[in-house]
Amino acid sequence: MKILVTGGAGFIGSNFLNLFVPKYPHCIFINFDKLTYAANLLNLRAIENLPNYKFEQGDIADFNQVEEIFKKYEPDIVVHFAAESHVDRSIVGPAEFIQTNIVGTFNLLEACRKYWKSYDGKLFHHVSTDEVYGSLGKTGYFTEDSRYDPSSPYSASKASSDHLVRAYFRTYGLPVKITNCSNNYGPYQFPEKLIPLMILNALEGKPLPVYGTGENVRDWLYVEDHCEAIWIVIQKGKIGETYNIGSNNERRNIDVVNKICELLAEELDKDPMDFKKLITFVKDRPGHDLRYAIDSTKIKKELGWQPKETFESGLRKTVRWYLNNKEWVESVKTGEYRKWMEENYGNRAAG
Ligand code: NAD
Ligand code: DAU
Repeated sequence: MKILVTGGAGFIGSNFLNLFVPKYPHCIFINFDKLTYAANLLNLRAIENLPNYKFEQGDIADFNQVEEIFKKYEPDIVVHFAAESHVDRSIVGPAEFIQTNIVGTFNLLEACRKYWKSYDGKLFHHVSTDEVYGSLGKTGYFTEDSRYDPSSPYSASKASSDHLVRAYFRTYGLPVKITNCSNNYGPYQFPEKLIPLMILNALEGKPLPVYGTGENVRDWLYVEDHCEAIWIVIQKGKIGETYNIGSNNERRNIDVVNKICELLAEELDKDPMDFKKLITFVKDRPGHDLRYAIDSTKIKKELGWQPKETFESGLRKTVRWYLNNKEWVESVKTGEYRKWMEENYGNRAAG
């Protein structure tokens, strides 16, 4: 079995590979990644020399490169993580999001259609997000039947890619599955996202920039629980179906930031106020979705998936990981990271 993993050097893709490459030595995993700012080959150190792991640098938005990979490896399964993933960057510069998330997904689907002579034993697994459903009010949950209503260029590009994947199933019978997941957190997450950004800024005594009033709610899932869910859907999910993934960990952003301050204080034997005093309310994100919350009854009932981490256990693990992995942290604080920090936060008005 040959599994082509796109975007396997990013946050979720590298957690996926670290979990499953050693566990399934009879499967060949090919990691196809452009190595954008969000990628880091250090994430894959533990598996880089395993015989069932291959790395190929390349761009899914370039059909010729995608074709070369299909010709060289003849994959049976595609697990498609590769994307531009950060909402704030999509607001500043949407073009890359259209190229990678829409054109890139289209190219992969076309390659499957062209190179899979029979669809027997083949699968295109599309990794997507709950942001395609837009924003919830104070109550309610996203189900697999919720209406698509994306707010940002990022979520609109992911919604477009979901539609293409579904269209290839309906039109060509391509064997596809889609998972739509809530906010992930855990090791190897690039510190532009809320949780690692707050941990690293707090450690450096920098402001902790909370958008708007901090009342927005996200539904947090530990990244390994997401990866296990994807694996179960690949194994047992029905072709053509969508599965929502989340673990009922709704938290207001301000509560998440306060909790991070408390955990850091515990781990470093400090006063939580040393960190909490850094909290700064800043100008809100345009089109900021108020609340996400996932109903994952379907994957739990039909496929038996259960998350292992609570938000408390997962967040503690995450804080410890960032404290204990200084080499990784230094490696991501490159020019690109500093450029983004200046661009998004440098002149941001107060909230
Ligand atoms: P990430 O930004 O950390 O990593 C993305 C990876 O894709 C990087 O390694 C990057 O180099 C690669 N990539 C980008 N453009 C590429 C291209 N044109 N060709 C090949 N590789 C390319 O993203 P992530 O947080 O790991 O998210 C992975 C997937 O999961 C995305 O599709 C995202 O939409 C989805 N998702 C993320 C979350 C979350 O909370 N992070 C939640 C739900 C769904
Ligand atoms: O819901 C799944 C999505 O979760 C994924 O599809 C995206 O790829 C992923 O980036 C994430 O999107 P969010 O926009 O929810 O994540 P982010 O970490 O950027 O922000 C989480 C919340 O925290 C959001 O309400 C905005 C807020 N925030 C974020 C940053 C970076 C702040 O208040 N301050 C910040 O500096």
